[in-house]
Formats: sequence, structure tokens, C-alpha cells
Amino acid sequence: MPGLFISFEGIDGCGKTTQVERVAEIIRGTGREVVSVRDPGSTRVADLVRNMLLDRGNSDIDARTELFLYLACRAQLVEQCIRPALGRGQVVISDRFSDSTLAYQGYGRMLGVELVRQANRIATAGLTPNVTLLIDIPVNVARDRRSAQMVDRLEAEEGNFHERVRNGFLEIARREPERVAVIDGTLPLDEVTNAIVDTLALRVPVMLGDVIKSA
Ligand code: TMP
Repeated sequence: MPGLFISFEGIDGCGKTTQVERVAEIIRGTGREVVSVRDPGSTRVADLVRNMLLDRGNSDIDARTELFLYLACRAQLVEQCIRPALGRGQVVISDRFSDSTLAYQGYGRMLGVELVRQANRIATAGLTPNVTLLIDIPVNVARDRRSAQMVDRLEAEEGNFHERVRNGFLEIARREPERVAVIDGTLPLDEVTNAIVDTLALRVPVMLGDVIKSA
């Protein structure tokens, strides 16, 4: 059975981590093996770099340094975890992937979209998700959701940064509608999950779609 690679994307506070957990459980319920990862992270090396990236004490990290640190995490994740899992025919669900680098570093930090696309290709050796779920919510809604929690280095960026990131994600979805589905993240949790399941049932290869529909 061929592997399947699904990524979840969106601005901080969009609710994607909760949806990743729910969708992973739903797909597991269909009998398929699911490997759930988060980017940056999910390997020993990437977890070390993740701490460095999110630590608010590291406010002196240069934008290009940041770009390469995220890419380094992804290269390790792809080689150590994602490609082997896909090779075993498993379903891989990633909480963020290359689109986050395009949105945050390309659009948010304004490092240049084409440059970041190329850099992504190097980091992933060309691996692209089969389906990407973009959980979209307005920046002010996301900010209100986050306010009660601890804020990391990226979340602490000023408002315009997150507007650029959100618009970057939406631009990616407009460019690649066959891969990226936009899900309204302002809906109640269960409705968001249903919208994701419906999207997967439509978009992923028939065998998984049928299985999910009957779940
Ligand atoms: P997380 O909180 O969703 O795990 O993501 C960590 C933070 O890193 C989040 O603020 C988004 C940011 N990020 C980037 O800036 N570039 C990237 O390539 C990735 C994967 C995440």
C-alpha cells in the first residue's frame, strides 16, 4: 500500500495541532498506520534546534539564520522519519511543513518567495505533501486565542508580521489549489474536523477516501 503524506498549516493559534490529533485518530480508526510528526521537531537534532528557535531569549537570531535553522530541522525530519515511513506505506501527518517556511520566512520575514521555494526543495530533496490542510483564521481571532498561553519567539512578533504570514498561506493555496485546501478555522472544533475529513475523502486516493467516509 503506498504511503500518504498530509500536512497541516496555518498561523499560530489557528487550532491545527488539535485537528492533527483528531484526524490522526480518525485515520488510525480505519486501520491504517499513522505517523504523526511536528515540524520543527520529531527528531533528536530537530528538537534541539526547535528549542533554540522558539526561545524568546534568542531575539538576536538573524532572519537568514532562522531560515536555515528551520530548513535544517526539516532535512533531518524528512530523511530520518518521513521518507522511511512513506516507504513502509504509512500515512504521515505533519504539523507544519515547507509551506510554513514560505509563509513565515518568505512572506513574513520578506526573504523572497522564490529563494525560499528553492531552499525548501533542497531541504526536502523535493518531497511535497499529497494534501495540505490550511486552517485559516483572522489574525485577531488567533491573537485572542493565544493570549492566555505562553507566547514563543515567533508568536511575539508584531501584528503585521502575522498578517503577512496569513496572506502568504492564502497565496500559496491560490497557487496550488490541487494540493492545498483552505479550511475555515473559525468554525466550532467538530465542524472543522468534519470539513477536514470531507476534504480528505475527496482528495486523497480512493482507497483512503472510501475508508474515511465510512468511518
Ligand atoms: P508550532 O508552534 O506550530 O510548532 O511552530 C513553531 C513556530 O515556528 C511557529 O511560530 C511557526 C514557526 N515556523 C516558521 O517560522 N518557519 C517554519 O518553517 C516552521 C516549520 C515554523
